[in-house]
Amino acid sequence: MIIALDGPAASGKGTLARRLAAHFGLPHLDTGLLYRATARAVLDAGERLDDERRAVEAARGLALTDFDEARLRGAEMGEAASVVAAIPAVREALADMQRAFARRPGGAVLDGRDIGTVICPEATAKIFVTASPETRARRRALELAGRGEKIDYNEVLADIRKRDARDSGRSSAPLVAAADAVVLDTTALDVEGALAAALRIVGARAGD
Ligand code: DC
Repeated sequence: MIIALDGPAASGKGTLARRLAAHFGLPHLDTGLLYRATARAVLDAGERLDDERRAVEAARGLALTDFDEARLRGAEMGEAASVVAAIPAVREALADMQRAFARRPGGAVLDGRDIGTVICPEATAKIFVTASPETRARRRALELAGRGEKIDYNEVLADIRKRDARDSGRSSAPLVAAADAVVLDTTALDVEGALAAALRIVGARAGD
């Protein structure tokens, strides 16, 4: 069983993906980390994020096991990831790794922006997780504050709107719900409520 979760920044898809993976005993891949690690490698090498050749080299050099999440989770790297993610050759360089993960025996849970549309169009269940920008900004601000980052709610909201526009407006694999995805709006839901709704969606699809 492959479960694909897509959605905008801070929609709750990461938390939901982890909970679904634990529920079904499946491995989970947060594909945003691949783009974040690519951006990190480009910046660490002193290169520009829009240098296609360098960004592709960085993407090809990634191993799924060597993510230093503490260095990748911050707001700055989310923005940087969104820039390298708009380069089609970078997306291509990361695609095989994601598909190989998804096709493990038994299946997997993947979350990102194009899992249901490009990486795993054959997924058993596709959930497009969304929430209002204000709700997402509040959640992200709490998360970043918990990480010790200095945050300003209005800046977080502006960053979310900018990333939404870039991720949805790019020509290569833009953020969009797959035609056969079920939209799950988590604006009024807590984690347990969102998990219960997601389990109903997966249950209905797995039984098809
Ligand atoms: O989910 P996240 O915030 O960690 O993702 C960081 C950026 O990476 C996001 O703004 C767009 C990009 N991304 C993508 O284009 N495709 C994916 N499957 C995952 C992330």
